[in-house]
Amino acid sequence: MKFDCTYFDNAIDRRNTDSVKWDLREVIKEGGIPLWIADMDFPCAPAISEAVMERAKHPIYAYTIPDDGKALVDFLKRRHGINIEPANLFMFPSIVSALRACVLNLTDEGDNVLILSPVYGPFYSAILDNKRNLVDIPLIKDENHRYNIDFDAIEYSFKNDDIKLFIVCSPHNPVSRLFSENELRQMAILCKKYNVKLAVDEIHCDFVYSPDKFVSILNIAEAPKDTICMYSASKSFNVAGLKQAYVICKDADTLEKIKDTANKLGVVSGNIFGLVANKAAFTSCDDWLDGLINYLDSNRKVLADFLENELPLAELTPIESTYLAWVNISAYETDNEALKLRCYEKGVCVNPGTIFGEEGGKGYIRINFACPKKQLLEGLGRLKIALTEKE
Ligand SMILES: Cc1ncc(COP(=O)(O)O)c(C=O)c1O
Repeated sequence: MKFDCTYFDNAIDRRNTDSVKWDLREVIKEGGIPLWIADMDFPCAPAISEAVMERAKHPIYAYTIPDDGKALVDFLKRRHGINIEPANLFMFPSIVSALRACVLNLTDEGDNVLILSPVYGPFYSAILDNKRNLVDIPLIKDENHRYNIDFDAIEYSFKNDDIKLFIVCSPHNPVSRLFSENELRQMAILCKKYNVKLAVDEIHCDFVYSPDKFVSILNIAEAPKDTICMYSASKSFNVAGLKQAYVICKDADTLEKIKDTANKLGVVSGNIFGLVANKAAFTSCDDWLDGLINYLDSNRKVLADFLENELPLAELTPIESTYLAWVNISAYETDNEALKLRCYEKGVCVNPGTIFGEEGGKGYIRINFACPKKQLLEGLGRLKIALTEKE
């Protein structure tokens, strides 16, 4: 089967499916176009739905044996040149729970944990809810609206603030940066030099637009052996509702400790449908994933053209990865609350920038462009009205 525009252009009605994105009425009104929360409005690969339906035919959904990890190991090797063993993996129900287990396990109450803002909101809560101190080194925007890492500030903080853990989102949500091998190497070298643990969330790693290539922290020779990487099929294959994710670590002692934290919390993974979906995703869906990335690449251009022509004062951060666009709309609106209400009124929903960082997110919105083009254009049209027609 060929996975091209015809497959991804077909809109699927997701209303009344308990979808957060479509059905959360306080955020999106009936008939609204959701360009917010990060899941996709595309059907998943047929091989995944077939595997899930096949398993559903067997009417006992009882305790399961956790994933042996072999399918993921092969997938990561094939797609990203990553060499790991099944023994290096441990399953969690989600990346967010894995991230929290890392914070609990690798740091103590009162310890300092460093992040690069603006960043995915649950990074903040994983640190603060567990009574750790958040140390924020903002990414620095250049004249092309591209965000760069302030290595001098990181080193200064490592040297002076007794940082215990550095959490990185790579590729980065929301600023859609694809960090280069050299940038990852510099982060790894600094962590080693100052004995800082490193945890990298690579959930967006499959969304990279040609000719660029994703480099995993697992392929950086200078990274400390106990570096933790997190990956999940949720974003790449649109199966977030099946609740599955992986912690990957080549250091057996560290992985054991993370497992122990999961055990203490009673976290047991292995959702029966998640397991079969993952196996299908990692073994039989490369063509679908390639078709998806091509489609998202063309949506990326549709979005950029729209902004250039219809909202010329908006500043689009170059989209190097992910299906999320980070846009400075402060020339049109600086009041988050007012914009939220007008978007609701006009029937469109985007994420306010401030959920990714109070300071760095002011005057920004994040637009999810993983939907059929017709829907994207309809949503962007409504966004234009919300930004420009203030009665
Ligand atoms: C960087 C990042 N990590 C994790 C997640 C969520 O993953 P999970 O649903 O497995 O917790 C998201 C979802 O948007 C994300 O963008």
